[in-house]
Amino acid sequence: MLEKIKETTQFIQRQIAFQPEIGIILGTGLGGLVSEMEILHQIKYKDIPNFPVSTVEGHHGNLIFGKLANKKVVAMQGRFHYYEGYSMQEITLPVRVLKMLGINQLIVSNASGGMNPDFEVGDLMIINDHINLFGTNPLIGKNYEEFGPRFPDMSQAYDHNLIKIAVGLAKEMNIDIKQGVYAGVTGPTFETPAEYNYIRSIGADAVGMSTVPEVIVARHMNLTCFAISVITDSGVPGHIVEITHEEVQQIAAKSEPKMAELIKKLLMKM
Ligand code: HPA
Repeated sequence: MLEKIKETTQFIQRQIAFQPEIGIILGTGLGGLVSEMEILHQIKYKDIPNFPVSTVEGHHGNLIFGKLANKKVVAMQGRFHYYEGYSMQEITLPVRVLKMLGINQLIVSNASGGMNPDFEVGDLMIINDHINLFGTNPLIGKNYEEFGPRFPDMSQAYDHNLIKIAVGLAKEMNIDIKQGVYAGVTGPTFETPAEYNYIRSIGADAVGMSTVPEVIVARHMNLTCFAISVITDSGVPGHIVEITHEEVQQIAAKSEPKMAELIKKLLMKM
């Protein structure tokens, strides 16, 4: 794994002389932030050695280097999910590579189902903690001390200072921003009503199929993390309706402009 990470990093560094400071992972229907970037270089995932390829509709599959809000960023337009059949190490390899390219902060976005009755479809939720329900962990296996410790602390997985800044910015922007705990599950099935109930009862406000592996690996390497979720459907008992991936994409796309604006403003303060 270490060799692969080094090989991929060197491949990218041979193509571009640009050191990003901040990484951004763009989730389902949220790839549009890229249109706001001053793009300096773009590589397709399929052209990057050892990179998996996104197999999911709504995930583009481009690694994009450039400037956003005057910050040097690298954006992953499309991510990898455990349900696609890749290993936990494979889906998080890009995060390792971004760190080796120079980032020290990571912004993650996703779409999720909301179980908190105060949430409405289309809301933005700043993730202030997570519950790993994948039943596995990307750090299982040999630990590479050069990346981080065997037993990483997770007491502040999502940076409190960035959360505070983002909440302040959202208020200024008149966005009714929510905050909460994100439960990460494997998918690809959406939850049954009993599962939504269960996940709510253990303390989660939203549930989705990504982010947790990426943030675990990022925190292992001591990257500062900020994550935000678009609530695309309701997992509130009594309000659960049938949901499709197309609807998740549509709702995420509708909320994307306000999320993009918030991330841009946050970048200015990072
Ligand atoms: N459950 C899991 N993942 C999701 C959901 C959901 O309800 N909505 C969007 N991604």
